[in-house]
Amino acid sequence: MKLLVINGPNLNFLGIREPEVYGTATYQDLCDLITNYVENKDVELEIFQSNHEGDLVDCIQQAYYDKVEGIIINPAAYTHTSIALLDALKSVMIPAVEVHISDLTKREDFRQISYVGMAAKKTIKGHGFNGYLEAIDYLLTLK
Ligand code: DQA
Repeated sequence: MKLLVINGPNLNFLGIREPEVYGTATYQDLCDLITNYVENKDVELEIFQSNHEGDLVDCIQQAYYDKVEGIIINPAAYTHTSIALLDALKSVMIPAVEVHISDLTKREDFRQISYVGMAAKKTIKGHGFNGYLEAIDYLLTLK
């Protein structure tokens, strides 16, 4: 199965940013965890990170041409603002799982709305890095 992991702004700063919220493991640790997890699975996986909304839209559109079969997306702060990302996910019609490292239900009011989540088949929040692995397992059940 061809899967794409997309991470939004500031996730490249994992391990540096707000360790009390996101932990001390780095972005590279997250990428290694995901890559190792799929190693013995029938999965072809790409991981993309950008701090720029348009680049994230371009990546989602490219997934359509690349015949990606499942998207795991942590849109980070764009979760709560981006109708462009919502529309991009709806446009490509690829099953998507929204992942958040922190438990948004216990955080600020402005984090309670997720536009991107409206295009996702499932949302996993508050499970730390493990949420990405759960998302992969879920997408594999769709195959
Ligand atoms: C986040 C939660 C968002 O509200 C925040 O802007 C992030 C990370 C998470 O993974 O918990 O950057 O998506």
